[in-house]
Amino acid sequence: MIYSSITGTGGYLPERIMENAELEQMVNTSDEWIKSRTGVVKRHIAAEGETTCDLAEHAAHKAMKAASASSDDIDLIIVATTTPDLIFPSTACLLQHRLGIRGTAAFDVQAVCTGFIYALAIADKFIKTGSTKKALVVGAETLSRIIDWTDRDTCVLFGDGAGAVILEASETPGIVSTFLHADGQYKDLLKVPSGISTDCTKIKDGNAFIQMQGNEVFKVAVNTLGRIVDETLSANNLKKKDIDWLVPHQANTRIISATAKKLDMPMDKVILTVDQHGNTSAASVPLALDVAIRDGRIQRGDKLLLEAFGGGFTWGSALIDY
Ligand code: COA
Repeated sequence: MIYSSITGTGGYLPERIMENAELEQMVNTSDEWIKSRTGVVKRHIAAEGETTCDLAEHAAHKAMKAASASSDDIDLIIVATTTPDLIFPSTACLLQHRLGIRGTAAFDVQAVCTGFIYALAIADKFIKTGSTKKALVVGAETLSRIIDWTDRDTCVLFGDGAGAVILEASETPGIVSTFLHADGQYKDLLKVPSGISTDCTKIKDGNAFIQMQGNEVFKVAVNTLGRIVDETLSANNLKKKDIDWLVPHQANTRIISATAKKLDMPMDKVILTVDQHGNTSAASVPLALDVAIRDGRIQRGDKLLLEAFGGGFTWGSALIDY
């Protein structure tokens, strides 16, 4: 049996930091409200001209260095993003070229905030079938480009960034299980209501923005993440106490705490970066993973539960013996 195992991680955040105080000057909000309702203290914002691929490239180099992987070794590239540089070619193709790689499969995955879990699950399956030996899996976003900076319901929540992992074929797990789900009946609760074949003038004019019914998203997210925790534990015959670290999508501290409570997990076993990064959508899980591996909290042999929830709705989990 072939398994896949994470051999390196990397993360990158744009230089510019936007504190809550700056948002107080832009919309009718307060540092206190943002911190208490979302947990966000600051977020990073891409510079003018800095693209999703730029962020992905930095994160990819760091992950490759950590895994001692060279460009020649990579035989699959998947980029999870909702904010690609171009309509096409895919950001994965642009990244492949930046890294000096030719001929490998390279494609984007669009599952909004669950994008990285989707991409990881796909790469895992490529490796398990024997068609891939070493995959570069990236979550990267410049969400600031689709935020209406006059809408206080959304602009306080999001940030830009990229996280990456190298996933390699291995004789032992590795990735123990992945579960992916979606339910399009919730399409209107969280969306950018324009695209190439709908209202494309908004895209051309730079007026395509995230719209969200925050309360409704919150309720469905908490319930759904509870269910995916149950599904993952029961499918693997695990008890709650078997999980060493929860690495959740960083949407809101209150949603994360609810999932931790479901696992009877103290918050010091939960990797929390939403305070420093905001919600970076597909980048949030690999960024959080990278932070906790680099600061030494996550150690080899630990059992990790990665989970995410996002627009669509989409949701998923990955159980990992690190
Ligand atoms: N600053 C100050 N006040 C704000 C505000 C802001 N940025 N946004 C909303 N408010 C106000 C509301 O107008 C409302 O005022 P009212 O009581 O006078 O009507 C009050 O705060 C409470 O609003 P509500 O929407 O009930 O707050 P909430 O506790 O649900 O928190 C969110 C709002 C958006 C933080 C929360 O619903 C949430 O996190 N939802 C999930 C969002 C998410 O994670 N999306 C991505 C999923 S991947």
